[in-house]
Amino acid sequence: MAIERTFSIIKPDATNRNLTGAINAVIEAAGLRIVAQKRIRMTKAQAETFYAVHSARPFFGELVEFMTSAPVVVQVLEADNAVAKYREVMGATNPANAAEGTIRKLFALSMGENSAHGSDSVDNAAIEIAQFFAGNEIVG
Ligand code: CMP
Repeated sequence: MAIERTFSIIKPDATNRNLTGAINAVIEAAGLRIVAQKRIRMTKAQAETFYAVHSARPFFGELVEFMTSAPVVVQVLEADNAVAKYREVMGATNPANAAEGTIRKLFALSMGENSAHGSDSVDNAAIEIAQFFAGNEIVG
């Protein structure tokens, strides 16, 4: 398997409840290395760009409002097969369908307030990482 990088966001519902460390513990226990991390307040423009693929969906406005409502923690995670591994560690988008032990089963409140984002492909991971990190901020 190839060493990959994926992009992660610890979302406002989680930072509001002081869960950054608890989520990082789940990430690290799964063998993903946090090779870059920063806490930011996303701007409306950043959120709209990041979620542009969902711009026609009925929940887009709510999603942008939520993602800019409080700080988030953006991260780069590295591991063998990191993209698929992190999606498994996060669990299903809707926490009602998430498997036991996953971040969303443990912490998410709803489909929208679902505690974590992870890239859905290696190509999108590279695009998402480049939106938030300069190369010299990632230390593997
Ligand atoms: P994420 O992985 O960040 O990518 C898109 C996000 O849209 C998703 O997680 C959910 O948080 C959010 N989302 C998806 N479906 C809905 C929905 N029906 N209502 C509100 N938010 C949603």
